[in-house]
Amino acid sequence: MNTPITSAMERPGAAQPDTGSINPAIRKDFPILGRTINGKPLTYLDSAATSQKPSAVIGAIAEYYATSNANVHRGAHFLGNEATAILEDGRNEVAGFIDADPAGIVFVRNTTEALNLVASVSTAGLGEKDRVVLTQLEHHSNVVPWQLARERRHFDLQYIRVGDDGQLDLEHAALLMAGPTRIVSISHASNVLGTLQPVEPVIAAAHACEALVCIDAAQTAPHRKLSVRDLDCDFIAFSGHKMLGPMGIGVLWARPSLLERLGPFLGGGSMIDRVDSLTSTWAEVPHKFEAGTPDVAGVAGMRAAINYLNAIGMENIAQHDLYMGTLIRQSLEQIAGVTVLGSEQAATGTVSFSVAGVHPHDVATILDREGIAVRAGHHCCQPLMHRLGVSATTRASSYLYNNPQDVSTLVAGVRKVIGIFA
Ligand code: ALA
Repeated sequence: MNTPITSAMERPGAAQPDTGSINPAIRKDFPILGRTINGKPLTYLDSAATSQKPSAVIGAIAEYYATSNANVHRGAHFLGNEATAILEDGRNEVAGFIDADPAGIVFVRNTTEALNLVASVSTAGLGEKDRVVLTQLEHHSNVVPWQLARERRHFDLQYIRVGDDGQLDLEHAALLMAGPTRIVSISHASNVLGTLQPVEPVIAAAHACEALVCIDAAQTAPHRKLSVRDLDCDFIAFSGHKMLGPMGIGVLWARPSLLERLGPFLGGGSMIDRVDSLTSTWAEVPHKFEAGTPDVAGVAGMRAAINYLNAIGMENIAQHDLYMGTLIRQSLEQIAGVTVLGSEQAATGTVSFSVAGVHPHDVATILDREGIAVRAGHHCCQPLMHRLGVSATTRASSYLYNNPQDVSTLVAGVRKVIGIFA
């Protein structure tokens, strides 16, 4: 696919190629894409931060509150039972989406909360002689929770190195695993570079030394079919809002047998079996990890998002996102003064770049005047920024509703930035 992309972008006035895998008419399903920003049509290229929502998701949330709202797992009344069914059907739907056992699906607020849960409960019992392994390209949400746990448990915290291309150094990973590694927590794709990480050999090496593996799938669950059975990981975390669902609902899946063994994270209603004045016992998994009133509307919205994604097909979405990532990358690389970070494979449609002599915040501000939404800064990845020798980047991230016209608009916007600062 690479050759046609480049040649089409190089020929002025040439018809834009169709990505083929997704009907461009789906843009109409996303009301926000009809907005104008600063007098220009919105070009939304910040989906790695959060995706836009189709009407089906917005409608599912409104419908839940309009027709079924009640608290779950409590009352014997009709609405309470209906809300409980929405929550539990949603659990089954999410389980199907990642090829998992529903008993392992814990609803949380977002990937960050899921990773805090894992770092807190899985490190109980670790000490100075134990090791936890992360990578240099983790989002802060897969760094800080482990640092907080380390303050209490004093384990050794190590990072698998990444190369200049943003790829994991698998030899270094093997070296770290050879030590007393108990837990490995790694992202499936970089939120900065859009690169897929070779998690399979890391999982195999970790399991060979009986370490648990947690996968941060925030940047892959929206973009490709995941199977926890095939991945053979122990935990996986992702957010609803990056995959067309609402903000405030996320998922942790863990092996149910592991959840049974681990202690709870938050205490309160719904997660208990019996409470005495000094001790309590816990509800069955996964409820042991779901204290308090859950976000049932969020689950209804997430379910609608999964139905929407499945109707389009995750394979089609993966193909489209690779196409768009490649198109963005190759188009930006043709502009003198622009440097694209990372390797060739922006598989999730996310591309980070620098414009010589212009701060990323200035790039993003000028692009915003053109109606183009991108993210600028360290992207919650300061260790990776240090590794790559930059303090910040500009990031364009696409999703299933973006098209080659958006890339042309981005390219014109970046040329304008360069013209202003020349
Ligand atoms: N994790 C989100 C991002 O990368 C917020 O932008």
